[in-house]
Amino acid sequence: MERENFGSKLGVLLAMAGSAVGLGNLWRFPYMVGVNGGAAFILVYIVFTVILCLPIFISEFVIGRRSQSNALGSFRKLAPGSKWSLVGILAVLTPMIILSYYSVVGGWSLRFFCSACTMDFTKDGTDLAGMFGLFASSVWGPIIFHTIFLGITAAIILAGVQKGIERFSKVMMPLLFILIILMAARTLTLPGAKEGLQWILKPNFSKVSLSMCAAALGQAFFSLSIGYGIILTYGSYVGKDVNIVSSAAKTTGMDMLFSLIACCAIMPAVFIFNVSPNAGPGLVFQTLPFIFSKMPLGNFVAVIFFATLVVAALTSAISLFEVGVAWLVEERKLSRKWATLWVFFFTWVVGIICSLSFGPLNGIKLFKMEIFSLLDYLSSNILMILGGLFFVVFVGWKMKKADVREEFTNSGALKGNNWLFAPVYFIIKWVAPIAVILIFISNFIK
Ligand code: PFF
Repeated sequence: MERENFGSKLGVLLAMAGSAVGLGNLWRFPYMVGVNGGAAFILVYIVFTVILCLPIFISEFVIGRRSQSNALGSFRKLAPGSKWSLVGILAVLTPMIILSYYSVVGGWSLRFFCSACTMDFTKDGTDLAGMFGLFASSVWGPIIFHTIFLGITAAIILAGVQKGIERFSKVMMPLLFILIILMAARTLTLPGAKEGLQWILKPNFSKVSLSMCAAALGQAFFSLSIGYGIILTYGSYVGKDVNIVSSAAKTTGMDMLFSLIACCAIMPAVFIFNVSPNAGPGLVFQTLPFIFSKMPLGNFVAVIFFATLVVAALTSAISLFEVGVAWLVEERKLSRKWATLWVFFFTWVVGIICSLSFGPLNGIKLFKMEIFSLLDYLSSNILMILGGLFFVVFVGWKMKKADVREEFTNSGALKGNNWLFAPVYFIIKWVAPIAVILIFISNFIK
């Protein structure tokens, strides 16, 4: 069977950026910045993204493009008969676990978008803030919205790589940037925005600690979608003429820029309306509706914000979905339709359990965490870091250096990438594995 590829270089770029830009930038990044003390966290996050995550991104891309196969098949192809296929299993499983709870948050976003369209925030915003807790802990509402969100994702996947993922990303990514810039423009022109901006820009280095570094690395991985087999799978749909290094750098740049703009759109408002910046995961769903209710043009901003959240979540969810589908189609020989149905079913069931962990299943705790938090912790802090580590070790130590160079320079055609190869290869072989192991271990030293 002929494998489908992305149709254009722009399509590849926007699909990868679509995967990267998501709830991680709008929901997770601002609250992580809030909880970890502001500018110092942002600085550490930027350094990690450029020095460690970009080379890991490139490694994952190299494996995918070289093998032209799914996350599991690629290791079988490039290292036949070895234990490396175990890494492939990890790379197929982790995205499906993430998608399960990601879709629950996607459902919340959809619910809030509907409220933003129909309610008057200036009157009801304060109630909306309280409504989040009630809604998330109820049984049917979150399950229905999780189902709708996952259903839309499945429909895009069903349409295929070019007609589904690529077409959707090409329209939605520019829209996302326009929406978030609109929102930032509104916040930054409010009187008193300066103080919040200073909090984002002036680092307080006494806040830097090992656990903060671990959190920054986790955030950088999550935000770039690396370490899960996503970049690998998308990379496998890419032709030999695409410049891996520049695509990786552009995606990373777009993702970082989006996070920073999102922070500028949210944090100053948090300060102006005198609410605490460290509200944690509830920041977007509880603190922001309250702020919208107090803000001039609050209704309009609320619609824009929750639309951005839903679109960003969708473009990321399709990338998570595609990993499982690619594996089922190529390794298990299912049709795209059946593969989509199976992934839908698995993530739908696990998602329902996650959703109920805010309500009736709240008492069930493992390692002191309820199911939702446990899956988030397991996938973001452990599985994906391990995935990223294995990818760099595979490229740095298992693949032939000449093959890696070939992917890096498109068999010598990209002269500009020649001089970059040595330093990046050094990071992939030595710096990234050692740094990632150290930071990973620091997770467990409290
Ligand atoms: N990078 C996405 C975000 O920032 O929301 C989340 C994500 C997508 C994580 C895909 C992992 C992934 F495989």
